[in-house]
This record gives sequence, C-alpha cells and structure tokens, in this order.
Amino acid sequence: NCTSDNPRGALVVLEGLDRSGKTSQASGLLSYLEGQGILAELWRFPDRNTCVGQMISSYLSNKSELDDRTIHLLFSANRWEKRTLMESKLRSGTTLIVDRYSYSGVAFSSAKGLDIEWCKGPEKGLLAPDLVAYLDVPPEKAAERGGYGGERYEQLEFQKEVAQHYEMLHDLTWKTVDACLPMEEVAKQLREIVMDCIANCQKGKPLTELWQ
Ligand code: TMP
Repeated sequence: NCTSDNPRGALVVLEGLDRSGKTSQASGLLSYLEGQGILAELWRFPDRNTCVGQMISSYLSNKSELDDRTIHLLFSANRWEKRTLMESKLRSGTTLIVDRYSYSGVAFSSAKGLDIEWCKGPEKGLLAPDLVAYLDVPPEKAAERGGYGGERYEQLEFQKEVAQHYEMLHDLTWKTVDACLPMEEVAKQLREIVMDCIANCQKGKPLTELWQ
C-alpha cells in the first residue's frame, strides 16, 4: 500500500478490435500525460521482444502453427514474464498505458470456441487494471479503416466473434469510448477518464489482482 508521499501509478489498459485506434490513441495519451508532468510509459501486449513474444509473433504472421490452448498460454506467459516489472513500475509511481492485456487474451481465445472460464484461468493473479478503456467500433467499420495488415486474426467474421466475447468481460473498471467519433474527441474522452483514474490511484486506491 502506498502513502500520500509515495503515490502509485495507474494501470490503464486500452482494449478494442484490431483497427479500433488503440495504438494511435495510446501514443497520443502518453504525450498528453508527459505534458502534464505525469510519469508514464507505454506498454503493449503481446510484447514481441521476448522469446515467448517471438513465438507469438511467428504464430500471428502465419509462420508457425500452434494449438489454440498452446497459443493462449503463450499470450498469458508473455504477461506473466512482465508482471514483476509492472508491479515495481506502478509502485514507484509510474503510470502504465497498456495497449491490450488479459481482456484481449480471453476475448480472442474464447472467440475461437474455448471455454471463457478456462481462458481466464492463467490470467488469475496478474495485476488488475485500474481502468479498461474499450475503444468501441463496429467490426465492419474497423475493417474499412485502411485495411488489415494480414495477421492471423484480422478477418471480419472473426472480429465479429471477438466483439461479442469482449462484451462478456465488462466489469467495474470497464469504460466504453465510442471510437467512431473524430480522433480528437476520442482522445479528449480518454484523457478525462484516465486523469480521473490516476487521481484515484494517487489517493490510495489499492492495487489488486485479476479475476480472483
Ligand atoms: P497487436 O496487433 O495489438 O500487436 O495484437 C496482435 C493480435 O494478437 C491481435 O489480433 C490480438 C491478439 N491477441 C490475442 O489473441 N491474445 C492476447 O492475449 C493479446 C494480447 C493479443
């Protein structure tokens, strides 16, 4: 637990379908926070720089085949390998803006037909986000946005399934932002909910774990 002299950072997760604008919004948000003098870093999952991340990257670019449960566990392991660092950053006062997290893990794998509770299992004990900002865009709209990059999951029918599975994951930390609004409006709404969340963490909101 932190004291008022040592306020912790906030764990802010951005979620949404492929092409929902998460990555652009995440970097805009980081610049904004830095401009406000807030210590912040941008993270993303999968983190393709680790050995596990390279296996994931090869799977996503269709260079390797893996069983659905195997890839699910690799995505999860990729978060576990960053957990210690994540906790120490947060406790030392750095806010983390994380582009995708366990919610992607569960939504994408359960969209393939895996049991949702089974999918949540390996995520239990990871740090719970203080805010999940869901950039909501209809799958058809996302598909029209400059095309997909050709990775494994970037197909309209599959993204429709993912959208439905994301809906099953709404919890108290979840805030939906209409990602069809102009970029600047989305950015403004994000800034508001994120600043609110950072303030709550500074006031002593405890750091908790996922899905216990
Ligand atoms: P990216 O495009 O944000 O790098 O994500 C790569 C793909 O991996 C994207 O289609 C979502 C998917 N994904 C999962 O299936 N499980 C996960 O745990 C994560 C983080 C991403």
